[in-house]
Amino acid sequence: MQKKIERNDPCWCGSGKKYKTCHMRMDEKIKGYALEGHIVPEHGQIKTKEQIDGIRESGKINIAVLDHVAAHIRPGMCTAEIDRLVEEKTRESGAIPAPLGFEGYPKSVCTSINDQVCHGIPSEDIILQEGDIVNVDVSTIYKGYFSDSSRMFIVGGTTTPERERLVRVAKECMEAGIAQVKPWQFLGDMADAVNSHAKENGYSIVVEIGGHGVGLEFHEDPFVSYVAPKGTEMLMAPGMVFTIEPMVNAGTEEIYVDDSNGWTVYTEDGKPSAQWEVTVAVTEDGCEILAY
Ligand code: MF3
Ligand code: CO
Repeated sequence: MQKKIERNDPCWCGSGKKYKTCHMRMDEKIKGYALEGHIVPEHGQIKTKEQIDGIRESGKINIAVLDHVAAHIRPGMCTAEIDRLVEEKTRESGAIPAPLGFEGYPKSVCTSINDQVCHGIPSEDIILQEGDIVNVDVSTIYKGYFSDSSRMFIVGGTTTPERERLVRVAKECMEAGIAQVKPWQFLGDMADAVNSHAKENGYSIVVEIGGHGVGLEFHEDPFVSYVAPKGTEMLMAPGMVFTIEPMVNAGTEEIYVDDSNGWTVYTEDGKPSAQWEVTVAVTEDGCEILAY
């Protein structure tokens, strides 16, 4: 059994401040939403300032690693070379690539090309071709803090108008989601903004795979949907940290997993898929992007 925290007790967050001058008012507000039947974050899902500072430092490395990939990616390069770029830049920064060994994942980064939705495994045998669209998904552990972001690259700089539009709209979907991240709204409000923008452009959003809380572990609760309706899913409260990473398909939302490696996800209809990802923290009046 846990004793109720009294006003003058130290706050549960470890700030050293009294509860009444720290998280007490926020807890009361969250409780009000819970009483109305909403899903609300637990204390463990609300990060302290120190933790967010740590995730931000991790995110800076994640951004630098993606910038490094951006500077070197070119046609004729194998995806194993991207893996080496990521591993070297991460280690050089004093950090660890989070994917390596995660649930048995064999590499330091995911590289997903064209009709691959996510979790493409870098290989010496996969050579980037002019006009390929590739998602490079980087995740970093620095001083115990996790960050996660991904970007799309158009190999060689130009591609078909169809692929180019998909890459652009997928980015706009992520941005539409980011614009809805503010306290006392719901994750479903963010999801609806993402999904509406995809639908308006004739695209679909993958349902089975979503985002996640992140920071003290790679994948934390809550699961983050990008197809949920407005007003549903978890209440957003200051201090929550999660990813916005909708997978946008040119055709059907249906997907399948490659049986031969147990990881790589493809679109069922073979049409292309695109994804951009950020790690965001909910602030008092909106959000802060911690990794891009
Ligand atoms: N980075 C992916 C995400 O956005 C997770 C990849 S899991 C891995 O959540 F093991 F494949 F790295
Ligand atoms: Co992620």
